[in-house]
Amino acid sequence: MKKIGIIGAMDVEIELLLDEMKSAGDVVRTELFSLVFYEGNLNGVPVVVVKSGIGKVNAALCAQLLILKFDVTHVINTGIAGAVAKGLGILDMVVSTEAVYHDFDVTGFGYEPAVIPQMKVSVFRSDELMVKAALECFKSEGHKIVSGRIASGDQFISDNEKKEYIKKICNPACVEMEGAAIAHACYLCNIPFVILRCMSDMAEDGEESSYKFNEASAAGISASLVKNLIVRI
Ligand code: ADE
Repeated sequence: MKKIGIIGAMDVEIELLLDEMKSAGDVVRTELFSLVFYEGNLNGVPVVVVKSGIGKVNAALCAQLLILKFDVTHVINTGIAGAVAKGLGILDMVVSTEAVYHDFDVTGFGYEPAVIPQMKVSVFRSDELMVKAALECFKSEGHKIVSGRIASGDQFISDNEKKEYIKKICNPACVEMEGAAIAHACYLCNIPFVILRCMSDMAEDGEESSYKFNEASAAGISASLVKNLIVRI
């Protein structure tokens, strides 16, 4: 039976989902290795929601536990990101077609930037049906949704030069700090996944204030897309 694991890095990215689950019925809370997993129903669909914490290691460990201990059939990563692709603006949505690490660098040994040596893939492909369903069910007035590559790294990008460098090496639609690590765990465990991110900032010089201003609205837009998506997969 379908059971969907939903990961957000921060409270603001999962709280709307938890509120809905609690108002719909019983929610079982399980603490495991310092993570708290919430099992319940969202829009009538069995889900497990968890806050991973920020960054790639937190995200990967969280995804692995979610898959191993809760037997989820699909994984969705919801949250916010910095816009990179041309034409993408604040509060627009990106659905991942694939995910990469922009900060993986073994160029000293002749590898291209963002390539993971000795692995079959360095680009983790999202589940096509989940991507298609997400694109079809997004309804947010005035804001668009695009599908594209998402690049993750252990860095908040608020610097024009870094943004240009990331564009040059992997040309993503947006940047964030967890998606590719979740995608990596899902790839290793053969679990279909998609990353949904709403743009809180433009990843340019001094974007911290834009981030702070838009954080809650962007997180809420992404979470409402999750609610619509889970009934369609
Ligand atoms: N999450 C939201 N905005 C971001 C940015 N500019 N860089 C990394 N992660 C982000």
